[in-house]
Formats: sequence, C-alpha cells, structure tokens
Amino acid sequence: MRDDLKAKYGPWALIAGGSEGIGEMFARELAAAGINLVLLARRAEPLQKLAASLPVETRIVTVDLTSEAMIDAIRAQTDDLEIGLLVYNAGVDNHAEDVLDRSMRSLRWSIDLTVIGQTLLAHHFGGPMRERRRGGIILVGSLLAYAGGGGMSVYAAAKAYCHTFAKGLWHELKPYGVDVLGLVVSATKTPAYLKFGLPEEGAGAIVASEPALVAREGLEQLGREPLWVVSEAQPMAAHLSSLPPAEAVALVSGTAAAMRGD
Ligand SMILES: NC(=O)c1ccc[n+]([C@@H]2O[C@H](COP(=O)([O-])OP(=O)(O)OC[C@H]3O[C@@H](n4cnc5c(N)ncnc54)[C@H](OP(=O)(O)O)[C@@H]3O)[C@@H](O)[C@H]2O)c1
Repeated sequence: MRDDLKAKYGPWALIAGGSEGIGEMFARELAAAGINLVLLARRAEPLQKLAASLPVETRIVTVDLTSEAMIDAIRAQTDDLEIGLLVYNAGVDNHAEDVLDRSMRSLRWSIDLTVIGQTLLAHHFGGPMRERRRGGIILVGSLLAYAGGGGMSVYAAAKAYCHTFAKGLWHELKPYGVDVLGLVVSATKTPAYLKFGLPEEGAGAIVASEPALVAREGLEQLGREPLWVVSEAQPMAAHLSSLPPAEAVALVSGTAAAMRGD
C-alpha cells in the first residue's frame, strides 16, 4: 500500500456505497492507512457491522443516493468534518431489460444513482477540497461503457458519463492539487454481482476480479491518470476498443442476456 494516503487524502474519507463489496474493501484499505471513514449505504446493519470492525473513527449515513434527502442526510453527518477523499462506489443496476420495457421511473432511478449522485457529491465535497488545495475523488465506472449493451443501455451510458466526467474533473482540479480518478471496473465478486448467478466455469464463464484487488488498484492509481482500467480488465478493454461498434455491442449484450437467464 502507498504510504502517502493519509497525508494526501485524510483525515476523513466518505465512501458512497461503503458497506460491502468494492466499497467495503476501500474502507478496509483506507482504515489500514489511518483514514477515518464516513460509510454510506441504504441498510444500516451491514454498515454498523463493518464500522465496528475498523480500527479508525467512523460515522454512518443511511440514505438512498437516489433520494431527494441525500445531500441533507450527508451534510448532517459531515459538515463538521474535513473530507479529504470521496469514493463514489454504488452503481450496480440490476434492471437487465430493454429500455422500452422499463418504466420511466426506473430509467430515472438509474440516472439518479450514477449520473446525478456522483455529480452532486463531487460538487459538494470537491469545493472545499479545491479551497484546501488537496484531496481526492474516485468515481467507480464500468467496462460496459466501452461498448454499450442491449439490456443494459442506461447503465452502460451512465458509466460512460462517469468516465468522461472524471476526465474533465481531473483536468479542472489538477491545478489545485485535487486528484480525480475514474476507475473502470469489470466483473468483480461482490454480493451484488454474485446475485446474478453468472457462470464461473464452463462455456460462457466470466472471470471475475476480487473486490480487494479493485480497491487497492484504485487507491494506487489515484493522482496518476484520470482513468484507470483495472489490470485484469485491460485485455478486454483493448479488445472492445478494437472492434467495430456493432461487434462490440453484440459481444457485451451477451452478458445482459446471461443475467436474464436467456
Ligand atoms: N461487481 C461487478 O461485477 C461490477 C462490474 C463493473 C462495475 N462495477 C461497479 O462497481 C461499483 C460497486 O459495485 P458492487 O458490485 O459492489 O455493487 P453496488 O450495489 O454498486 O455497491 C454496493 C454498495 O453500494 C450500496 N448501495 C447500492 N445502491 C445504493 C443506493 N441507491 N443508495 C445508497 N447506497 C447504495 C450498497 O449498500 P445497500 O444495498 O445497503 O444500499 C453497498 O454498500 C458500482 O459502481 C458498479 O457499477 C461493478
């Protein structure tokens, strides 16, 4: 683990989606570096369990990132803290359906979770970081954005927003010593992913990364490049980028079909 995390991104970090999976592993890595943590998710119990196991000060925010109350709930727990690092991790969208088969409400939910949530929190916490001339923001993206995907059109497009937003924000905040990273993640063994029951062996198997590896790479790469594809996903990222769009989207759409059990 790099030894400058606390100096650059302490004394507190907020992890949006910080109770399990990749978010939990960010919490464990940051706690090991001595950074205090604000952990946010919808369910209180997993947050409390994780917080109790960490060797640093913690606070908990139980709120839905898609709700109107989101900013007020976060401010109530953080206005008196110096948040030096924001990790916007939550984002899995389990609507494996075509756009026209979803309600407008569910389409808005997907965009609220990924596009609106990360934009508002980057604005809220990025302002004080820019004033202090130090800090970091990690936005967790997805390899699906490299191709788009039938059955996952909104999710993939929202993640493309995440990557593009991270690059622009990286450029805007770099002169102020604030580091931004879009972390491009592929299949990862989180509770949310495992619920899909995708095959791990045999025909159509998907090789999934360990959440700890993903979080560790994110923290290692913060402050270097604006966008980092997790190392295990790099060959697929290169492959998708080399294909004509119709072939890339056909390849990726197979994943949505598998999620539906087609
Ligand atoms: N796992 C993969 O295979 C994979 C692949 C590519 C990209 N990614 C990206 O990696 C990130 C993490 O994915 P993940 O698999 O760990 O699942 P996830 O559901 O995106 O994240 C899990 C964490 O987020 C919280 N959360 C989820 N929805 C929330 C909401 N509406 N409001 C507040 N908190 C919420 C969960 O707790 P609660 O349920 O209690 O709210 C939990 O702490 C996401 O951005 C995802 O798009 C994952």
